[in-house]
Amino acid sequence: MDTYTATKNRSDTLAAHVDTNPQDYRILTGDRPTGHLHLGHLFGTINERVRLQDRGVDTTIVIADYQVITDRDTTANVRDNVTSLVLDYLAAGIDPTKTTIFAQSAVPALNQLMLPFLSLVSEAELHRNPTVKAEAEASGRALSGLMLTYPVSQACDIAAFKGNLVPVGKDQLPHLELARTLTRRFNTRYATVFPEPQALLSDTPEVPGLDGRKMSKSYANTITLSATAEQTSAVIRKVPTDQDRTITFDPSTRPGISALLTTAALCLGVPTNALADQVGNGGAGALKVLAAEAVNDYLTGHRARRTQYANDPHLVADILADGNARANTIAEATLAEVRHAMGTTY
Ligand code: TRP
Repeated sequence: MDTYTATKNRSDTLAAHVDTNPQDYRILTGDRPTGHLHLGHLFGTINERVRLQDRGVDTTIVIADYQVITDRDTTANVRDNVTSLVLDYLAAGIDPTKTTIFAQSAVPALNQLMLPFLSLVSEAELHRNPTVKAEAEASGRALSGLMLTYPVSQACDIAAFKGNLVPVGKDQLPHLELARTLTRRFNTRYATVFPEPQALLSDTPEVPGLDGRKMSKSYANTITLSATAEQTSAVIRKVPTDQDRTITFDPSTRPGISALLTTAALCLGVPTNALADQVGNGGAGALKVLAAEAVNDYLTGHRARRTQYANDPHLVADILADGNARANTIAEATLAEVRHAMGTTY
């Protein structure tokens, strides 16, 4: 059995235990505010966060603003992106009275944890992280010290909240493995302060981007949650397809057609093949009309709630002020335990 299959099996057993024992778990999860959230995020993680929150799992979401400058020189859009994230969380059903939402840069104790945690990892281990390698290559620039060490910072986010459950996508698994290693090493070297966090892998099939590649802002193939119905229909109309009027699901030879089928099927909760049969010989035009309707129907409620929240001028700032305060209290308490364990109390 390969490592991924083993991790997925462990995660499935874990998911069953979480369902029956939600009070045993603390979730720490987060997002990098590099742009607007899209349909891939909603199906991939956000809906699952809402489900776990409603199940009663203690949940904290870090908006990792410092992670934005791992591979870019500007923080120009960070503030707007943070606001956009919070609006989408709320519209999706994240309840700020149950879930703590905070900005990483507003909680100094996280960075106090960073130095002892950095001492627990070798430079070679940092360089081996496949996700960091891929991100550094994609950035086309020299590897920054922050890019190399942000997985340690992320481990500090998790550890500071004593998170023992982290819902992640496949690309975050190396980071979670590091968080497990660092908490274990800290506990062995000093005293048992941290639980070892476990990965909870999403069950939802990945939502492809509209060109069939991974849905990603850098490929300009996303359906953003903040777009209007008209903008969404326009984006869908422009998807490159082919001349064959018979609609079939074949991601390798018909990436656009197949991505439209997958997207519509997820929104409607039906199998892709059923949709392909339904459109039959109607051609790509008919499929696009159907897909746009499916996405827009699915997002109607989300958009209405998002607009309503966006019209309240204080809402996001109030939620963040409250979340930052709660996060500071928890992270400071953990830091006090860390200082005690290390004997650095003066
Ligand atoms: N790096 C994560 C991402 O790009 C975001 C993140 C920051 C995170 N801190 C975290 C995820 C802590 C899980 C736990 O998606």
